[in-house]
Amino acid sequence: MTAPLLADLRRARSSALLEVRDLSVRIGHHDVLSGVDLSVGAGRCLGLVGETGSGKTLTCRALIGLLPRIGAEVMRGSITFDGRDLVSFRQRDWNRLRGREIAFVPQSSLTGLDPVMTVGRQLAETIRLLDPESEVRTRAVELLDMVEMPNPQQTLTRYPHQLSGGMRQRAMIALAIVGRPKLLLADEPTTALDVTVQRAILELLSSLRQATHMSMIIVTHDLGVVETVTDDIAIMYAGSTIETGATNDVLSRPQHPYTRALLDARPSARAGGARLTTIPGQPPGPGEWADGCRYAPRCPFVQDRCHEHVPQLTAIPDGHPAACLRQEELVHD
Ligand SMILES: Nc1ncnc2c1ncn2[C@@H]1O[C@H](COP(=O)(O)OP(=O)(O)OP(=O)(O)O)[C@@H](O)[C@H]1O
Ligand code: SF4
Ligand SMILES: [Mg+2]
Repeated sequence: MTAPLLADLRRARSSALLEVRDLSVRIGHHDVLSGVDLSVGAGRCLGLVGETGSGKTLTCRALIGLLPRIGAEVMRGSITFDGRDLVSFRQRDWNRLRGREIAFVPQSSLTGLDPVMTVGRQLAETIRLLDPESEVRTRAVELLDMVEMPNPQQTLTRYPHQLSGGMRQRAMIALAIVGRPKLLLADEPTTALDVTVQRAILELLSSLRQATHMSMIIVTHDLGVVETVTDDIAIMYAGSTIETGATNDVLSRPQHPYTRALLDARPSARAGGARLTTIPGQPPGPGEWADGCRYAPRCPFVQDRCHEHVPQLTAIPDGHPAACLRQEELVHD
C-alpha cells in the first residue's frame, strides 16, 4: 500500500464514529461471522450488502448488543463506537447506550409493532424513558412529523393493523429515533414494501440524516438502494467483509470477483432498483466455509493458492480494500 493511501485510510479511520475490525462471532459450534471490517464516519451512510445468510443481520445485532443470549460469543476483534470498546460492554452499559446512541430498526419491522397497543402508546412508553412526562405527547407528535407520517395526531390513536406497510415502517423509524441516536441501523428497511413506498422510505431516511446529522447503516440486497442513498459500502460474503469503499468507487471499479458478479447479476446491470439475482452455486452456510478463500468454490478466477490462504482486506494503489489474493492482477483485466 502506498504511503499517501495509508495516510488517507488512517485519517478516514480516525474520524470514524464506528469502527469494526476483524469481528468474529461463534454461535454453538460454528463461526457465523469471521473477519467483519467496516467503518462509519460521522453523518455518513454505509450500505451493508450481501446474499442471504452472509451475516448482515448478525453484524447489526453485534453492534447493538443483541446477539442471541445463549450460545453466541464474540471470539475475536473489536467494535469501537465513539471512542468506546463495545465488545467489553456489560448488560447495564448496553442498556445505557441502546436506543440513546445506537438504534435499530429490525428486519421484521413490519411485524415489529405491538398489535394490541396504539402507535401513540407505544411511542409514549419509549419517550417516557428519556423525556419528562409533560413533554410526552408533544414529542410523540413531533416524531411522527419527523417521519412524515400523514395525520400525526390521528395516527397516535391508531393500532398497527389500521396502518399501511409504509406507515408501519415510518412508525418503527419514529420509535427508533426517540432517543436521538448518533447511529441508526436499518435492517432491510424497504424489502417488504412496494416500489413507490420503498422510494418514499429511502427519501425519508435521507432527509432524516440531513436534518439530524445521524450516521446510518442500511442493510439491503438492493443495489439500487445502495446507489441512491449510501456514501460507502461494505460487501459481505460468508460471514466476512470482502470489499469496502466509497459507493461510487466500489460500483464503478469493483475489485473482488464476487462484487463484480453481483453487479453483473443485476437484471440490467442496468436499471436502478435491481435486486441481486443469480451467481452460479450457493453461498456456504456456517460450518461449510472452504479453506482459504470462502468464495473459491464459485470463483471463475480460482487458483491453487486460493485454497491455502485466507485473503485479507488490502488496498492496492489507486484501489479500495478488497479481500482477494489476485486483486491487483484481476483489476487490470
Ligand atoms: N440464532 C442463530 N443461531 C444459529 N445460527 C444463526 C442464528 N442467527 C443467524 N444464524 C446463521 O448465521 C448466518 C448469518 O445470518 P444473518 O441473519 O446475519 O444473515 P443475513 O445476511 O442477514 O441474511 P438475510 O439477507 O437472509 O437476512 C446464517 O447462516 C444463519 O443461518
Ligand atoms: S482469492 Fe482466489 S478464489 Fe478468492 S476471490 Fe480471489 S481469485 Fe477468487
Ligand atoms: Mg438479515
